[in-house]
Order: sequence, then structure tokens, then C-alpha cells
Amino acid sequence: MFFGDPHGNFEPVIAAVERFRPEAIVLLGDLQAQQPLHVELAPILDRTKVYFIHGNHDTDSDLDYDNLFGSELADRNLHGRIVEIAGYKIAGLGGLFRSKIWDPRRPVEEAAFFSADALRRSMRPEERWRDGIARRHRSTIFPEDYQRLLRSPPADILVTHEAAAAHPHGWQAIDELAETLGVQLVIHGHHHRDINYVAEGLMTAAAPFRAFGVDMGSHLAWPRDETGLGSAPQDLLDLATQVFGAAALAWLDKPHEWLDGQTPTAFAAAGGSDKVRSILNAIQHGGVV
Ligand SMILES: [Fe+2]
Repeated sequence: MFFGDPHGNFEPVIAAVERFRPEAIVLLGDLQAQQPLHVELAPILDRTKVYFIHGNHDTDSDLDYDNLFGSELADRNLHGRIVEIAGYKIAGLGGLFRSKIWDPRRPVEEAAFFSADALRRSMRPEERWRDGIARRHRSTIFPEDYQRLLRSPPADILVTHEAAAAHPHGWQAIDELAETLGVQLVIHGHHHRDINYVAEGLMTAAAPFRAFGVDMGSHLAWPRDETGLGSAPQDLLDLATQVFGAAALAWLDKPHEWLDGQTPTAFAAAGGSDKVRSILNAIQHGGVV
């Protein structure tokens, strides 16, 4: 199960793991854990295997950085490598392309710095952060990271923080990496929107891989048709999670007086999802149902 950028809120992650019991989860960057990641995710660490890639905001502050890269889960970062998880070989590319280091539309030879080590060597000791490169560039994609992945053995899934080329702010370099690795699936975060690229007509079904974006607070299960997501539609679960956080499932499964005493889940399944949605919107924003 793949989760969009938490930005410090892990309630939807914990709620989904408790409900669907996935074998493993991958967080798609911008975690911004407010406590060390293993503390934030303590309720689910014995229920699923946790992996992640970092995003640009995971280097915003010392706290963001330390709660991720200094946590007991720091070795679960998939950036720059391939790990077999739940039977899939999953390749990871965290962070952003930054033109001060390398614009991937230009040849690697034109990159300002090939590697983090090359950047570090160019800096005076007093310019360094913790005797290394600037904190910000610890979420920058260096050509070395990208090329190491490019030369890796084949993989099944590629997770990235940056989007594939079909996104208005996406990158051809992500597609090239996906095609070289031979993956069937690319999943990205960063843009805070659920996107099914084929369903939205942004990619054709004949494309060499399928691509999905995942919104913050949302998730994508894979394989998609074996998830048992029958009980409440994903959009209602997402909306309920926005309104109630970890209590969303409890609300969806509790009889409601405005729904003839039925549970929101049952009422929605019987064709009443618009009414459930309007109740949630009223709770969230105030107003008339
Ligand atoms: Fe981001």
C-alpha cells in the first residue's frame, strides 16, 4: 500500500493499515514526522513492514531531517536502490531534481555536481552542514543516484517523489528510468492529487507502464483488484479521514440518525453516497445537509 505525502499527519496511514492490514507500506516522501518516525508509526510497526522515500520537505528543518534520517526506520529508505517487498522488486528515487545540481533535461556531463561527494569537496569546511553538503541538497537528486538505479537489474515498481512525464510538472527522466528498469508501475507523491494517468487520459493503456499519483492523506493499494476495498468507496473514506482522522472508520461503521439509522458505509453501498458526502461536508465546513 502506497501513501501520499503525510506532512506530519500519520493518522490516515495508521487507520488504513489497521483496516486493510497490508503486508508492507511505502510512504512517498514529505513525511515531516513531528517525532522520530518509529515513534509516529509505533501502533503499526508490528502489523506491516514500513518503507519510504524522502521528499523535498524532509530537509526543510533540522527537526524534519532528524525525525526521518535519524529514526530507527532510517534504513527503510528506498532511495537509489531496489528492495524486494511483498514479492515485488521496488526501486526508489526520493527527492527533487534541482537545476543548481542537475537539470535532467541536460546531459549528465553538464551537471554542476555529479555526486553529493563532489559537491562536498567543493565546499569550504565552514560552508558545510554537519560536515557535509547543505541540508537542502540532501533531498536533491544527484546524477550518481539516478545512474546507479538506471544500471540496476530490472524491477517491478518504481516509487518516486517527482512525477512521471505525463504530469504537467513531471519529468522525462522518470519515464526513462521506469522503461530502463522495465517496471509495470510508477507511483509518485509530491503533487497532492490522486491521479490515475490512464483513466484520466494522460497516458494510453499501451504505455510501457501504468502511473499513479497519490494525494496527501490518501493511499493506493497494489494489486488494485485484490484489496477488498468493497466496504466504503475510497473517496468517502478519504473525506471521512479528513474530517475524523483515525476515527473515520468508526464513524463510517456506526449507525447515523440522518441515514435512517443505517451506517454511512451501508447507506453509501445502497446508492446514497452523495448524502453521506454532504453530511461529511457539513461537518467539515458547517452548513446545511
Ligand atoms: Fe514534495
